Amino acid sequence: MFPTHFSGATWMCVASVLLFSCGSQPHLPAGSIQGLIPAPQSLQVGQGTYVCEGSLGLAWPEGWGQEAQVVQSWLSQAGIEASVNTAKPGLTFELDPSMEGLESYRMRVEPSGMRISSATHAGLFRGWITLRKTLPVACEIGCADGFELPCVSIEDAPILEHRGLLLDGCRHFQGVDFVLKQIDLLALHGMNVLHWHLTEDQGWRLDVPGLPKLREVAAWRTESDGSQHGGFYTVKEIQRVVDYAAARHIEVIPEIEMPGHSSAALAAYPELGCTGDSIGVPHRWGVFKDIYCAGNDDTFAFLEKVMDHVVSVFPGPRIHIGGDEAPKVRWSNCPKCQRRMKEEGLANEEELQRWFIGRMGDHLATKGKTIIGWDEILEGGLPEGAAVQSWRGMEGAKEAVHLGADVIVSPTSHCYLDYPLRSTDLEEAYQFEPLPDSLAHGPGRILGGEGNMWTEHAPQEMVESKVYPRLIALAEVFWRGHSHAGATGAYVDFLSRLDLHYLRLDALDVAYGLESPPFELSTSASSEGELVALIQAKGRGVMGRGQWTGNGSVLASGEPFVVNGPGRAEMEVGRRGTWTGTSASYALDGHSAVYRPLILEYEPSPWYTGGGREALVDGRLGSNDFRDGAWQARQGGEMVAEVDLGSELEVSAVETGVYLYQDAWIFMPKSVVWEGSVDGRDWRELASWSGSNVLAPNDHQERVAIQGVMGPALGPVRHVRMRVNGAGPCPDWHAAAGSDSWLFLDELVVRTKEAS
Ligand code: ACM
Ligand code: ZN
Repeated sequence: MFPTHFSGATWMCVASVLLFSCGSQPHLPAGSIQGLIPAPQSLQVGQGTYVCEGSLGLAWPEGWGQEAQVVQSWLSQAGIEASVNTAKPGLTFELDPSMEGLESYRMRVEPSGMRISSATHAGLFRGWITLRKTLPVACEIGCADGFELPCVSIEDAPILEHRGLLLDGCRHFQGVDFVLKQIDLLALHGMNVLHWHLTEDQGWRLDVPGLPKLREVAAWRTESDGSQHGGFYTVKEIQRVVDYAAARHIEVIPEIEMPGHSSAALAAYPELGCTGDSIGVPHRWGVFKDIYCAGNDDTFAFLEKVMDHVVSVFPGPRIHIGGDEAPKVRWSNCPKCQRRMKEEGLANEEELQRWFIGRMGDHLATKGKTIIGWDEILEGGLPEGAAVQSWRGMEGAKEAVHLGADVIVSPTSHCYLDYPLRSTDLEEAYQFEPLPDSLAHGPGRILGGEGNMWTEHAPQEMVESKVYPRLIALAEVFWRGHSHAGATGAYVDFLSRLDLHYLRLDALDVAYGLESPPFELSTSASSEGELVALIQAKGRGVMGRGQWTGNGSVLASGEPFVVNGPGRAEMEVGRRGTWTGTSASYALDGHSAVYRPLILEYEPSPWYTGGGREALVDGRLGSNDFRDGAWQARQGGEMVAEVDLGSELEVSAVETGVYLYQDAWIFMPKSVVWEGSVDGRDWRELASWSGSNVLAPNDHQERVAIQGVMGPALGPVRHVRMRVNGAGPCPDWHAAAGSDSWLFLDELVVRTKEAS
């Protein structure tokens, strides 16, 4: 049974019959070399076709056992009868020691058969994957009658030796089958590393014999609604994942975080923290003060026990030890940590972290393992022999290369797959340059790159929509390099191959997401001063429809509509002709100050402009995400804005939205005062709000807090001024005590009797 998208490939089959007349079977699905991702380094189309009529003889070199099983099992799932036939093979895998490179391969398809050559087993496997991607998409489901392939010659090798995905199994747990599927998908895209993030504040996922509280306590958290979330991988399950990956020449690098991001372990074993206090497994996100005590030898006994188990189940040469985002406040106040610093002659807590990681690195070295750490491990001195994963931009990569270290790059700018598309769309991922010239000449080395999938906001069922297609762009960049970078033509070419590749992903049930944000909202004022909004569907194959809740009117993407008063545009996303059920919602407010002349007495943060200098009167309100582009912000100080209504109006209400998220240093203001003036010189207070008592140490919630004041008669005025006084420095109880807090506003809303 073939899927309906098959007709295009059938046409190609007919075309090849016409061109080559070499005895093709018109009923057979035809493969294609058009949609290969990553694109091979060199590809030459040959003469004629290879025809497989439902059975295939195989030949492979001795020792190619697990991989051969993967090949055979794929063929058998496709319904093709595959058996060893060294005398007359249709598909030959051969070792060719004369070839160079650990994963380079050659693939030849000729009328007489298909042949993959490499100096290594890994290269043979990469070649097989390329061959699989040239086979008809239908074969992913079943092509029992056979297939035909155009003759082709491919020479290929990756630019970077380390090409991976970080999968965070901690913030949300994923089942083993899901992990195995991701390994298959990594292999499909020429990737060779699964960086498996297994320990975190919010959950410890690795069962370690002899440490039962890890699976009993550290693996589970209670969510704010009282439900339980968690899970862990048994020794057997870990082995299954590792073996499955190994058969596909994918290294699983476990990440065991230290000294920070360790709350779950400390919840299970509180004596390993500086205070010894019992803490629960947290259910909120962020960075936590409680970290392993560096002065307590029991910490190292625990971590060595964990690592001894880790090395027994993960055979790869490298272990990731985290090292990121470890606040030092507990260490500064801990007599044991301070004694350790004195004994070891360490000048500060950063050096204590280096000592901590160095000590664990030494232990792992005795087991023949090297360590990788996030770029924070450069602070206080890089431990001997450690590789660095640069995530806070490429600065860490630069420093580490200059120090002679091995480096993996995954900067937030291009490689964070958990980020929304408005931060990193497909094209931005594709334009990532993992090997800039400035880092190409050592003494250290860029080994490769990773796409990072953190899962705070992504339960398992959402992960694929975040990872794909952006990881596919990164996979091409990591494999092919950017020999043709910068040329937009390269991206256009990638997209045309991706369109074909999507058909394969459909056959494999990959729930890939969009390539870019589905809509673009713009607002303006009509000649009568009304707010006019326009929501346009953006991106290839994307369509939109929706409703304006203000009056229930139906919205078609691309048609402007007038907004009177507050309401929401609720939009639905369609892709390639199908409504997806994915929605987007925009809060708009056609109030009396929209697009009236505005004076700002402050400079908005360049990161949070809200869309520009008119953001406070653009009619667009902020959502529950302070990064949505609608919020305007400032760190420290006041925000004062003044609007000219154009004529004297009877003001009935003044409002603004305020964002509140104390964990992100975003606080309620101390006060908001609205003033009015008839002439712009004499001002009187219209209304005020005081929130001096709203700072709450245990408030971790993220939300919009609307401040509004209605009055029977606030006006008449022509000018309205809003003074918002920020909370000042973060209070003593806060993780960022003493640093300037942030103030976030979305709009200066003025309602008048005339408008209502
Ligand atoms: C990281 O994103 N904290 C490595
Ligand atoms: Zn301590």
